[in-house]
Amino acid sequence: MLDQRVLPRKEVWLELSQWEQVRDAIRDMAVRGAPAIGVSAAYGLALAAQQGDHDLTNARNGLASARPTAVNLVWALDRIMAIHELTFDAVLAEARAIEQEDLAMNHQIGLNGAPLVPDQAQVLTVCNTGSLATSGHGTALGIVRTAYSQGRLKHVWSCETRPRLQGLRLTAWELLQDGIPFHSIADSAAASLMRAGKVDFVVAGADRIAANGDSANKIGTYSLAVLAKHHGIPFVIAAPSSTLDPALTDGSAIPIEERDASELTDIEGVRVAPEGCPVYNPGFDVTPGELVTAIVTERGIHHAPYNFS
Ligand code: MRU
Repeated sequence: MLDQRVLPRKEVWLELSQWEQVRDAIRDMAVRGAPAIGVSAAYGLALAAQQGDHDLTNARNGLASARPTAVNLVWALDRIMAIHELTFDAVLAEARAIEQEDLAMNHQIGLNGAPLVPDQAQVLTVCNTGSLATSGHGTALGIVRTAYSQGRLKHVWSCETRPRLQGLRLTAWELLQDGIPFHSIADSAAASLMRAGKVDFVVAGADRIAANGDSANKIGTYSLAVLAKHHGIPFVIAAPSSTLDPALTDGSAIPIEERDASELTDIEGVRVAPEGCPVYNPGFDVTPGELVTAIVTERGIHHAPYNFS
């Protein structure tokens, strides 16, 4: 597993041989991004099966507890648990299928979403929704990639994404490799760019989407949606169907992860806040469905009122 905590400064590959190590890697965000978390958890169950566990309930529950917001995690785990005989071979084959299907879904999301991108658009995105966050290509960043390859997209504004800087560290790393023109921006620069007419389209990923289109995603996504509404800019969510949770009527029941205060008080291991500084650090927020112009999945472009089933 490529350790996303230290990218792009270092390229460190972790060798994980026990499901508990996969749980810890998900919890500590060595791997992150909803689809990548699901795929990793599936391989975690394969490791548990390899260790001779024929029941997998304990490993399933341990992996499920690693991060609460992304529904892809329990979706992938429960897909494995539905296998009739939980042999190592069967679990590994299902994990591989989940990974390959995710890659195919992302390419389809790119194809489905690219026509929504206005010609020669400047596109704003948040967090990292690319190859690192998925099996490959990406969801929101998949739309960026496909639109760019079709000659539609002119330039990307990539929000730094405090506090873990997935935009500044990871999305910038991916966009540089693809040669897609972009600038990283402080999260707080989005409003004035929109006011200046320099943003034509906003696209974000999701960790869980309720039946009414309420969408949980990286903290700060909601404020971008409010800003987009104010400035009359389309705000689109891109996600595979494994991110849909139609059992939830709205986003109020989506569990929002609170993470350690040190993510805010420390930068790259250096304490920047005063000792004793109280911190509130939610990892996600929920964008109300009425602020979402469209939701793009591998099945197509969805508009309110949504019918995901
Ligand atoms: O805390 P993270 O980095 O796992 O959060 C990731 C996001 O919020 C992504 O936008 C979401 O998981 C979709 S990734 C294709």
